[in-house]
Amino acid sequence: MNILKVSDIISGYTDLDILHGISIHIKPGEIISIIGPNGSGKSTLMKTIFGLLRIRSGEIIFNGDNITGIQPEAIVRKGMGYVPQEKEFFPSLTALENLEMGAFIRNNDISSSLERVYDVFPALKEKQRIKAGSMSGGEQRMVGIGRALMLSPDLLLLDEPSAGLSPVMRDMVFGKLTEINESGTSILIVEQNAKRSLKISDRGYVLEMGRNRFEGPGEELLENEDVLRLYLGG
Ligand SMILES: Nc1ncnc2c1ncn2[C@@H]1O[C@H](COP(=O)(O)OP(=O)(O)O)[C@@H](O)[C@H]1O
Ligand SMILES: [Mg+2]
Repeated sequence: MNILKVSDIISGYTDLDILHGISIHIKPGEIISIIGPNGSGKSTLMKTIFGLLRIRSGEIIFNGDNITGIQPEAIVRKGMGYVPQEKEFFPSLTALENLEMGAFIRNNDISSSLERVYDVFPALKEKQRIKAGSMSGGEQRMVGIGRALMLSPDLLLLDEPSAGLSPVMRDMVFGKLTEINESGTSILIVEQNAKRSLKISDRGYVLEMGRNRFEGPGEELLENEDVLRLYLGG
């Protein structure tokens, strides 16, 4: 049984296909990394899974439901969270207001969700009245991830969560993702920082030009000579 099963997806932005039949699956509780060169279709795959791009062919099953072609808001309601690569929060709103926005589709009491996010990111509680735009890069990343956690997703998608951060803040992000996973959330990460991401992953997929190229356990990909040479700079 998979929490997510993506089968033979063809999609793109215009008439041109960018993904040429991608398949991935995630079992409950797994951390999965998607790596591959720039332009190989990693972000496009994330956007397609989250319902932001029209699927031309293929099928996506999430939590037992066929979500192929349904809108992002409906996908969120089914328990998927998404932290995009850019514009993950509203800079002119405070940290707290951003977190509240994350719970926009729920109108009952959100205080328990807030407490859970503050348990993961205590710094956000201290800075809840500060505008997100004036926070540090690491704190802004916490706001983006925290916002997606407000609805306690079963599966969290993150596009380049460590991009643009200092080494210390990168460690913080990967540590927090492990912590979030240990509390029961399955995680799909797209990363440039591929070695680091594979280290915390159960399995990984390598994409190339919109197609599956390699897949396997994290440690196995890290030791695969072709993967190392072509994609991990080793
Ligand atoms: N908004 C867009 N409109 C048209 N083409 C796009 C858009 N975004 C990305 N592409 C194209 O899709 C391909 C895959 O891009 P992307 O999924 O962003 O790659 P990655 O995340 O692996 O670097 C690239 O050729 C890119 O030029
Ligand atoms: Mg990308």
